[in-house]
Amino acid sequence: MLGTAWPSVGEVSELITNVGELVTSAPDGEPGPAGAGPFAVIGDAALVIEDGRVAWTGPASRAPAADTVTDCGGRAVLPGFVDSHAHLMFAGERCHEFAARMAGQPYQAGGIRATVAATRAATDAELLANASGLAQEMLRQGTTTLECKSGYGLTVTDERRAVALAATLTGEVTFLGAHVVPPEYAADPAGYVDLVTGPMLAACAPYARWVDVFCERGAFGEEESRAVITAGQAAGLAARVHANQLGHGPGVRLAVELGAASADHCTYLDDADVAALAGGRTVATLLPGVEFSTRHPYPDARRLLGAGVTVALATDCNPGSCFTTSMAWCVALAVREMGMTVAEAVWAATAGGARALLRTDVGHLGVGARADLVLLDAPSHTYLAYRPGVPLVAAVWRDGELAAGARP
Ligand code: NIG
Ligand code: FE
Repeated sequence: MLGTAWPSVGEVSELITNVGELVTSAPDGEPGPAGAGPFAVIGDAALVIEDGRVAWTGPASRAPAADTVTDCGGRAVLPGFVDSHAHLMFAGERCHEFAARMAGQPYQAGGIRATVAATRAATDAELLANASGLAQEMLRQGTTTLECKSGYGLTVTDERRAVALAATLTGEVTFLGAHVVPPEYAADPAGYVDLVTGPMLAACAPYARWVDVFCERGAFGEEESRAVITAGQAAGLAARVHANQLGHGPGVRLAVELGAASADHCTYLDDADVAALAGGRTVATLLPGVEFSTRHPYPDARRLLGAGVTVALATDCNPGSCFTTSMAWCVALAVREMGMTVAEAVWAATAGGARALLRTDVGHLGVGARADLVLLDAPSHTYLAYRPGVPLVAAVWRDGELAAGARP
């Protein structure tokens, strides 16, 4: 792949050169340098963007000519982060819950209902302003692909407007009508599942790519979750599952059984869960910001990686269990608290997230990939964990265009 695919004459191309370290994360079937696995890194590198795509990567000394040249001054470039799990369509304020948790209160899934009330009361303009503000915050920190869930409306009308508004921000929209049973259905949870799998799904499916369910004690049980996911699949949506976040349960095994692209959280796993993930194609998406913000134990990433499971990292940005947009912080947490190497964590936050979204065009910088890249004010991707909490993103290209920061 390196040193091939020169830009053709006549198209506008950009040469990004003097890259001290270029993380490409070679796509499937193209192993990186010896020992690096799929996490391919090129020193003293360059990259050519043409027509919004990566047209060439290789040593700077062998770079082809291009219409414009950007000199990165020896700094590191990596693929844009792929944040495959976020809940941005909400209104309201729950910082007091976080403060109470830090004072010893447990996290409770029922807190979602407070956000539901505020979300129902918000206008479309308010919801969109909040969500697009968060999406911009993500972009400035290097996230070039984001997934966005509904799940704080929980009526046909409110869920439909959530997915419709989310679809203006991203193509990765997830219908999460089965987030929690809303108060008006407290005495009739089966009736709520019928609503979710019937009229609500019909109203939301045209705007969504994914269906999700919060399979957890206090939210939806195994059979309810199965009904939600299979109905979504029958409506043409692909599946992802909130699984095993707050305790052991059937979520992970159900996700694998139903062929979900991702089982998210995976905090409380027994051996059968790990074996199921290892034997299937479902990605384990770990969300360490949630454990930070709820004082739960961190998921055991080493156990999953040791079993051969594909691991992704995402923020889970939401007003309750984790209100961060920073993928870099999630990388730092995964390295420090979950035993991941820096390379594993950066791969999981880029290529891993792409796998969790069944995307092959993002999360890596192989030739033909979408030209989504992040320039760090640092010589190496290691700085993402080595300098936690520091705003290291100097510039972000999305679809080949400078989208945030300043061109060097
Ligand atoms: O992924 N687990 C379910 N949903 C969110 C939390 C939502 C909330 O507390 O508002 C999560 O952690
Ligand atoms: Fe979530």
